[in-house]
Amino acid sequence: MKLTTPYMGLTLSSPLVASASPLSQSLDTIRQLEDHGAAAVVMFSLFEEQIRHDMAALDHFLAFGTESVGEAVSYLPAVEDCDVGPTQYLELIRRATGAVDIPIIASLNGTTQRGWAHFATLMEEAGAKGIELNIYYIPTAGSRTGAEVEQQYLDVLARVRAAVRIPIAVKVGPYFSAFANMAQRLDRAGADALVLFNRFYQPDFDIENRTVVPSLTLSRPEEIRLPLLWISLLRGHVKASLAATTGVHSAGDAIKYLMAGADVVMSTSALLLHGPTFISRLLDDLAGWMDRKGYTSVDQLRGSMSQRSLPDATALVRANYIRTLESYKTGS
Ligand SMILES: Cc1cc2nc3c(=O)[nH]c(=O)nc-3n(C[C@H](O)[C@H](O)[C@H](O)COP(=O)(O)O)c2cc1C
Repeated sequence: MKLTTPYMGLTLSSPLVASASPLSQSLDTIRQLEDHGAAAVVMFSLFEEQIRHDMAALDHFLAFGTESVGEAVSYLPAVEDCDVGPTQYLELIRRATGAVDIPIIASLNGTTQRGWAHFATLMEEAGAKGIELNIYYIPTAGSRTGAEVEQQYLDVLARVRAAVRIPIAVKVGPYFSAFANMAQRLDRAGADALVLFNRFYQPDFDIENRTVVPSLTLSRPEEIRLPLLWISLLRGHVKASLAATTGVHSAGDAIKYLMAGADVVMSTSALLLHGPTFISRLLDDLAGWMDRKGYTSVDQLRGSMSQRSLPDATALVRANYIRTLESYKTGS
């Protein structure tokens, strides 16, 4: 069974990658991820804003995991243990690349053009095999147009592209008015991979105390639908590799993403829930399923349900309200 997968210019042993999460804050856990079959590890993000100001973003991510899921607690480091300054981050990259054979992909969330390029360079020098640009940005100013916001993404990529030689992945959210166009522009601007999609922070309200509550939950399998659709639509229309992130809780979810056309499938929530052993389960179940169905390589599977391969691709984009309504009536 050939699971080898090309991803952003790297050759991976399989399509299963550990996405950015606090799991990568410990060298021991990175080793466990490799031992259980992760083909690459994306590090948690270095937040430029944090370096300049405070620990808010990491605090938010860590609180998110621990508050929502009891079992996740043991996999999350305490905030006070996490010094995410650039020195420690770069040191962790250095130690991780020395400790494991799988590629370590650094992740960066910058706030200034100079910062994006500067920290990316340091990550490359520290030995990262690739960089994921975590462009986590909510355009709140009503004066900014969509075109300006899109240009900002392209400018960030251009700055980092000019600064480093290692492959660059761009992790974006789905909130563009013409995502296919945006994806193609990022592709032409030199993205080696597109990571779909970033899950943006959506705070809740406590109506009794009138406070904003950081009550995000870990992903659920249904959440694969939006990235699944876009990966299927984009397969064959961009040169960049496609990485699926969100909602992978079983091999079935990973298989759907691969059939849509994902080069790699990433996991965070399920790893936080079940620990690094979840990767070996995914890998075994994926290989078992492929074997039963007669696939001998992951390449045969990849893209078999992309828009280009489907006999009736309109099924991907038609609303289908009537049929859905009928299925409620008949209970099917
Ligand atoms: C606790 C936690 C921390 C995360 N930290 C980061 C991060 O530092 N950088 C990043 O790009 N994404 C981060 N993410 C997002 C994940 O990498 C992933 O894209 C998202 O959780 C969707 O995948 P999933 O459904 O497998 O969880 C984090 C997610 C969680 C739950």
